[in-house]
Amino acid sequence: MQAEAIISSLELAVEKIGDPAPRVYERLFREQPGLEELFFMDNDGGVRGSMLQQCFDCIFDAIGEGVICRSVIPSECERHVSYGVEPDVFFSFFPVIRDTFREALGDDWTPEMAQAWETLLADLKHHTREAA
Ligand code: HEM
Repeated sequence: MQAEAIISSLELAVEKIGDPAPRVYERLFREQPGLEELFFMDNDGGVRGSMLQQCFDCIFDAIGEGVICRSVIPSECERHVSYGVEPDVFFSFFPVIRDTFREALGDDWTPEMAQAWETLLADLKHHTREAA
């Protein structure tokens, strides 16, 4: 049930807006303006693209086997401290992804999707805390 709701939220959003990356980063930098300068070396958006891809890998894993996210999130979280990204900020990327999809879906965002994302975010936060 949870997996289905997450997957349909992602599929519907992609149908509506295509590549979600520009909107995800636009929202992140609007909500936390200080973060944009951290990506000054990323001229072609390649790093931002693979960072978001890594998050999707974690999301799909978390609603399935739950193996990869358990090691990737704590190790990325620790590595990000060296970029000056503290664990709370690191985690905040996931709600930004959720909010981007919620906004893209508008009236198509269902209570089941909202609940599924709450559960997913709690899981991902738990893995982040393991690193903190
Ligand atoms: C708001 C939260 C986050 C910030 C501010 C942030 C910031 C950064 C920065 C500054 C870099 C390096 C940029 C460079 O080398 O020029 C980076 C790389 C990366 N981040 Fe994040 N990050 C965040 C969240 C995450 C999350 C949640 C994940 C995955 C679980 C993640 C995965 C990655 C990966 C895989 C790379 C390397 C990409 C590559 O070099 O191809 N990041 N991040």
